[in-house]
Amino acid sequence: MKAAQARVLLTGACGGIGRAVADSLLQAGAALLLVGRSPARLAAQVHELGQRHGVEPARLRWVATDLAQAERLRPLAEIAADWGCNVLVHGAGAPSFGRLETLEPTAIRQLLDINLLAPMLLSQALLPHLRCQPRAQIICIGSALGRLGLPGFSAYSASKFGLRGFAEALRRELGDSRVRVQYLGPRSTRTEFNNAGVQAYNRATGTAMDAPERVAQALLRLLESEGAERFIGFPETLAVRLNGLAGPLLDGAFTKHRRSLPPLLQQPSPDGAPATLTC
Ligand SMILES: NC(=O)c1ccc[n+]([C@@H]2O[C@H](COP(=O)([O-])OP(=O)(O)OC[C@H]3O[C@@H](n4cnc5c(N)ncnc54)[C@H](OP(=O)(O)O)[C@@H]3O)[C@@H](O)[C@H]2O)c1
Repeated sequence: MKAAQARVLLTGACGGIGRAVADSLLQAGAALLLVGRSPARLAAQVHELGQRHGVEPARLRWVATDLAQAERLRPLAEIAADWGCNVLVHGAGAPSFGRLETLEPTAIRQLLDINLLAPMLLSQALLPHLRCQPRAQIICIGSALGRLGLPGFSAYSASKFGLRGFAEALRRELGDSRVRVQYLGPRSTRTEFNNAGVQAYNRATGTAMDAPERVAQALLRLLESEGAERFIGFPETLAVRLNGLAGPLLDGAFTKHRRSLPPLLQQPSPDGAPATLTC
């Protein structure tokens, strides 16, 4: 749909990509319901956006909630339905980087809660309302790593592959409805999401990082085109396509990525004790 017709519930609105998305959607005429965890940050962002774009208050609202708490998702969907939401953008997400042996089991669960379970349950809660709209869209901000698994991103890729599978299956499930489900796969983007370890990995592997504004423009185009999915940047777009066609044939292509991970013995184990290899 045209952005000017969109009433968008945007999660992750205060993040690096979320801020750029909010800016470009407002610029294009959409109404926004911003979601984040900090009331202070949301209020400041709404104030700043309102001043910059001169929008009336009804076009720009915010709700503070923790999406990792499943019981908060239905009330959020009710607020969005009362507000007249017709586009749901899943932008909230958490990072994870490191060899699988170094990740905390609880951190892996939290990652799946925020990156996968929350979008699924929020979509489920809002779907009865979205089905009744003349036109509605659910846009999942996934990642290139949701279609291309790289060393160091096993947990993150699991969450984003899951999100992409969810989007694809739901799009087909809703094929005879007025709700369109879409997936956006940015490559690495310059936000606080990527810590120093990821930035060093990107430098070592020659991985480019985009400005968040590029992701925002791609999301706007995806919204208006109603295409199924869109990936950003070369060579990531090509790698994603090849991986979809013949993934195992690419297994040997990521040696540099594997070698760019911190050595296992130099990393602490989950309980804080020095990690040891048993073989
Ligand atoms: N940056 C990249 O390299 C990159 C690349 C590809 C895809 N992506 C995806 O793009 C999306 C946005 O990433 P970003 O770069 O903008 O990251 P970011 O700057 O770290 O922002 C992440 C956002 O997610 C929100 N969030 C995290 N946990 C939450 C929770 N439990 N409840 C509610 N909100 C929560 C944060 O809310 P608060 O404001 O409350 O902290 C924040 O607004 C993510 O889904 C990420 O996976 C990022």
